[in-house]
Amino acid sequence: MSDTATSSMDIMASENAGQRERVIELLTKAYWMEIETVMSYIANSVNPDGVRAQEVKESLEQDIQEELGHAQQFAARIKELYGVVPGSLDFSAEQSSLQPPDEQVDIVHVIKGVIEAEQGAIEHYSRIVEETDGVDPVTQDMVITILHDEQGHRRLFEGFLREYEAEGLA
Ligand SMILES: [Fe+2]
Ligand SMILES: [Fe+2]
Repeated sequence: MSDTATSSMDIMASENAGQRERVIELLTKAYWMEIETVMSYIANSVNPDGVRAQEVKESLEQDIQEELGHAQQFAARIKELYGVVPGSLDFSAEQSSLQPPDEQVDIVHVIKGVIEAEQGAIEHYSRIVEETDGVDPVTQDMVITILHDEQGHRRLFEGFLREYEAEGLA
């Protein structure tokens, strides 16, 4: 088979530079989302006070490593696609719902913030899965696995919220 015949589906081929740029753009946004989540989860795994906050703090502490792993996967894929992982000066924060609450016993604030962050990730990653369909199956496959992780995170925190809702506290 000639080079030209095999290149149409190849995201790394030079004639697919435009599509590759788009994938890198989506991956870069995903990378920053993970980095910000790591920052937010570190803070929220430490700040909350109270007996009932313990479970949430421990869960977030575990998630930090998972989200960091996601950031590293996104970075590695950016590199593979001939992109450059951005430097910290390009970062701009967006997770307003994950800022520390006024009272550190306000664990419902933290739970809702986590659900919102996970939901944001789920929406963006679903979009990547959609846009890479038939364009970049390797990125698509990687993002499907990460999307599954985020769905698990959201479901866990929805369960935490349900407990407070049942008691009329959320
Ligand atoms: Fe993540
Ligand atoms: Fe997550």
